[in-house]
Formats: sequence, structure tokens, C-alpha cells
Amino acid sequence: MIDLSQVEEELERELKRVRSLQELQQLKAKYLGKSGLITQAISNIRDLPPEERKSYGQKVNQIKNRAEELLKGKEEEIKRAELQRRLSEEWLDLSVPLQRAVGSLHPITQTLRRVKSIFLSMGFRVMEGPEVEREDYNFDLLNIPKEHPARDMQDTFYVNREGYLLRTHTSPVQIRTMLAHRPPIYMVAPGRVYRRDDDPTHSPMFHQVEGLVVDQELSFGHMKYTIEVFLREFFEADVPVRFRASYFPFTEPSAEVDIGCVICGGVGCKVCKQSGWLEVMGCGMVHPKVLENCGLDPESYQGFAFGMGVERLAMLYFRIDNIKLFFENDLRFLRQFL
Ligand code: PHE
Repeated sequence: MIDLSQVEEELERELKRVRSLQELQQLKAKYLGKSGLITQAISNIRDLPPEERKSYGQKVNQIKNRAEELLKGKEEEIKRAELQRRLSEEWLDLSVPLQRAVGSLHPITQTLRRVKSIFLSMGFRVMEGPEVEREDYNFDLLNIPKEHPARDMQDTFYVNREGYLLRTHTSPVQIRTMLAHRPPIYMVAPGRVYRRDDDPTHSPMFHQVEGLVVDQELSFGHMKYTIEVFLREFFEADVPVRFRASYFPFTEPSAEVDIGCVICGGVGCKVCKQSGWLEVMGCGMVHPKVLENCGLDPESYQGFAFGMGVERLAMLYFRIDNIKLFFENDLRFLRQFL
């Protein structure tokens, strides 16, 4: 017969020495396994004289429950300690150097983002229009009728659908915006445009940012100020700005905007063709006919608009002398614009 009074004490003593789940498993087998001490004691019950069975049985059960409780408690204690150890010892080394080069934004994307953010800071919204555009939005409603010589100024790519073309400028977004929204309008429209043109400073696909403001009591002075502020922000310098009279069918009066050459500082170089000035955009007061075409009364509203070439701005800002570099995607070139 097993001496029950010893069993509990011995288990407690042995438990104190247990360090691992494996050791705990062995101890569990010793007491509660198939031929464990407590299991044996339970099977001994039936050999006892009937009058002793009840009290012995109760005692064994008590000890069995107690043993299970102690073993369970120890198991939790070991698991907790193991978790603590892993939490303090194991860690992820985030400083491992990357095996692959990190990508970067294309210089044109960077330039577009800078242009947008300057105008956003002045309270403008960003609008968009489709690259496959309606011919009337690209030309007619902008006061460029069929057979008008101005259609030849921008040699057009036509598409296989009557009345549609690849937009030659972002100015049709002016029309879309005025047709869809009431003034006051303060918007810029960045995007791709297409022209049959191909040389070191012209690409058949390039980007423009259009600007349009329509409000009451607007003057050429508001336009001049807006453009000057933009250019000085963009070139991060107090660049000289000059407005030269010009012609666009959709603005009257019209002007071309020059900045003092950022390459030579105005003394004359190859980039500014010795003039000291660089043309950076076209602009003008929205032609009354264009306002009328969009259902606006030119007696109550005025507008000004401007359009600039993004590649040209990027070439001047980053000092790049061939537009083709933007589209070849040579990594040796692109890596310079991290
Ligand atoms: N759309 C003109 C161009 O592509 C630029 C421009 C826009 C001029 C708005 C005046 C006003 O050349």
C-alpha cells in the first residue's frame, strides 16, 4: 500500500527542481501515468476491505486533484518564463542592408508634383481631362475654327474616330471645367499632350500644366502676379520675369512669359541663344468668345489662363539639355534624381 501522506510532499519537492516541460512530463508520468504512483493507489482501492475504501478513495482523489493542479500550475509557469525569455532574446534585425536598389520618382513626376503643390498652396484645385479629346474642345470652342491657320501651329495626331484626336494641349480642360463648374474657378490641369514634333527640345508626347482662373473683376495684373509668384517659388530664386505680347486664339490680350536665363544669369549663353531670356509659358486673358462658348457672360466674368511645358521647366530646373533623356529611362540618368 502506498503511503499517501508522503506522495504530496514528495511531488512538491520534486516540482521545485523542474526546469523544462520535458522534465515536467517525466514527473507527470511518475505520478499520474499508467503505472504512476497515484494511478496505482487508485487501482489499489478495490483490494481494500470495504470499510476502508471510502475514506482511502476520498483521500486518493484529493491527492490526484492536488497533483493535477500543481503540475498544471508548473506548466504555466514554465511556459510564461519561456515566452519572457523569447521576448527578451529574440528580435528582428531591421538594419539588414537591402539587397535591391530603392526606386525613385521620375524627374517629370517630381516636377509635376512641385508645380501642383505650389498652385495648391495658392488655393487652386487640380482638374484632369482625357488624352483622347473631342476635336471641338481642343479647337473649336477655344476659338480655333476649322481651316484656321492656328490649327497648323500644333501638328495634330488624329485617331480612328471621327471628331476625336490626341489633345495637342491641356487647354481643352479649360472648356471642360467651365462647362461643368460655375465661377469662381481656380484650377490647374496637368497632363500629357501630343504633337507631331521631334527634335532635341521637342518630343511627340510631353506634359503641360494648364491654369485657369474665372472670377469677377479680374485683371491682367492678377495674372501677372500669380505667374510671377509661381515662377519664383518654382525656381527657388528671385528670377526676373518679363511678359512679351503674343497671340493665342483663346486669349486676348495674350503674352509669352520669359524668365532671366537661369543658366547664364542673363549675360547670354547657348541655352538662351545669347538673349539672356528663356520662354517658359504662354498666357492671356480668356477670350470673351471662349467664355460665351461655355455659357458665361463676358460682361460679368473675366478669366485668365496660362499653359506651360513641364519638360521645359524640368530641363531648366535640373539643367538637362536633351528632352529625350526623360523618355529613354536609362537608369544611369534616372539615378541622379533620388
Ligand atoms: N495652349 C497653349 C499652348 O499649348 C498655351 C496657353 C495656355 C496659352 C493658356 C495661353 C493660355 O501653346
